[in-house]
Amino acid sequence: MISGLGDGPLACMQRGKQVPYAEVGTRKKTFAEVQTERLNQAERTVLIKCPSKLNQKKLLQYLASHGNIKSHFFFENRGISALVEFSEKSSIASLQDAVGIPSASEHHVVPFKSRLFTFTLKNPVSQHVEDTPLHLSPQCHIPVKDLIEKLCLADSISTQMYILLNEYQLTEENIKLRFLACSLVRDFARAYFPDSTVKPFGSSVNTFGKLGSDVDMFLDFCDTGKHATKMKKGPFEMEYQMKRLPSERLATQRILSVIGDCLDNFGPGCVNVQKILNARCPLVKFSHQPTGFQCDLSVSNSIATRSSELLYIYGCLDSRVRALVFTVRCWARVHGLTNSAPGTWITNFSLTMMVMFFLQRRSPPIIPTLDQLKELADEKDKHIIGGYDCSFVSDLRKIKPTKNTETLDVLLGEFFEYFGNFDFRKNSLNLRKGKEVNKPESSPLYIWNPFEQDLNISKNVNQPQLEKFIAMARESAWILQKEDKTQQMINKEPWGLAALLIPFGKNNSSKMKNRMKGIGSETIRSLLDSLKLNNASSQQKAVGK
Ligand code: CTP
Ligand code: MG
Repeated sequence: MISGLGDGPLACMQRGKQVPYAEVGTRKKTFAEVQTERLNQAERTVLIKCPSKLNQKKLLQYLASHGNIKSHFFFENRGISALVEFSEKSSIASLQDAVGIPSASEHHVVPFKSRLFTFTLKNPVSQHVEDTPLHLSPQCHIPVKDLIEKLCLADSISTQMYILLNEYQLTEENIKLRFLACSLVRDFARAYFPDSTVKPFGSSVNTFGKLGSDVDMFLDFCDTGKHATKMKKGPFEMEYQMKRLPSERLATQRILSVIGDCLDNFGPGCVNVQKILNARCPLVKFSHQPTGFQCDLSVSNSIATRSSELLYIYGCLDSRVRALVFTVRCWARVHGLTNSAPGTWITNFSLTMMVMFFLQRRSPPIIPTLDQLKELADEKDKHIIGGYDCSFVSDLRKIKPTKNTETLDVLLGEFFEYFGNFDFRKNSLNLRKGKEVNKPESSPLYIWNPFEQDLNISKNVNQPQLEKFIAMARESAWILQKEDKTQQMINKEPWGLAALLIPFGKNNSSKMKNRMKGIGSETIRSLLDSLKLNNASSQQKAVGK
């Protein structure tokens, strides 16, 4: 077992791997505490590329001569690599002093000394290689096909959903690797801005990250705010001379441009560096080969950090939350409702917010509204960002557990039923109030950004994509209502969640008719409405041609 985070929420989340179906009762650490701890851990960490035939004892012995090793693991990524966490940061300096620089015979090397090393055996044949095979920590999830097979062996849909969660969620090792990637980028940023730090946000830290998802990171100039108020008290004022630019956006673009160039020119294993500086939120995209991650680097994204923390809180409150989100996200991926490339489809972030909204709407609610979390906030939880009040409670212990005892079997079916029948033409999802409210504008899907209340987080979604979502939700609700689990198990047919993760046949008009027989008049009315909508949009397309 890897030591490190004690009983923190991320640690509990990982322990779920051994005890998949247990409710987690003692999640106490705040988001900020976990972040700080993980970032510190990453600063004491190095990554070593190893030969395929490795004597791990010898490697660890050698490294231990530079200081106590707190944790380590091996993983496969273009060969074998080892992540090694020292107890003290000074051990890294000692190691860096001792290691050599590659000879410049074939390529010329850029003399940037990082925390990425290569370990080779001088005389591989004569070195004794261990008999015990190296344990490699997996960094990607099993294929959907294998998942479906596992799901068929479960005894309930709830169990299936927890199995999916355990197969897909980030592992302790993968989280360490993500923080290390941020910490390595930070080393570049610090060459220019010694006070800066690089922090992950989004699904790497909000408890909804899946193995294989990208690492969203941002450059934070944490001390700028502190310095601004520092000199106010005394009888005089002294401040730094700093370059002044006409807008914050321009400053962001310049900083990202330089850091992007640095990563491209000097960063070991940083490839495919793309600067996307004209986006609403300027960013640099790159592949980080040593860790195997696709990374998106932006600058001080305080509101996105707040939404990461909000989701973190929701994810920690009740074990059903993450199981339902992972299930819905996997279901959406299988049916082509989401896509890793940007486009007019629903994003994972929007889907996650839809699940949160649904859980707020249960009776009794499974998670509180943002306004309720704001009422529980104290002075230190106050955050006003760009004029928006982003305050909410950070201490999880202050939030009362829900009295709702619905099973995940019920919740999954109800989720599809709820959104299969949602009046998207009229209503939007407001997580701050936990209410459906009239749409302020005509976007097909409107989910209020919980913090920047004038933004729709699903503005990119077009009508056909929304209709596809509605149709899939209805089909899934119908499958769950109609299925005969025992018969399907006898016939060795996929059942429950497994049946939902197999792409539905394209020609399902007969199924549609059956479905109409089996469900209430409300559902039939909205189904007919959506068919009209479908017709209207295809007519529109035809006219457009
Ligand atoms: N974000 C946002 N508004 C959006 C899109 C994204 O505030 N319209 C913020 C959210 O905090 C989100 C983060 O940016 O979590 C990262 O976005 P993205 O990578 O698209 O989503 P993830 O939640 O990281 O999900 P995934 O696993 O698909 O990467
Ligand atoms: Mg992401």
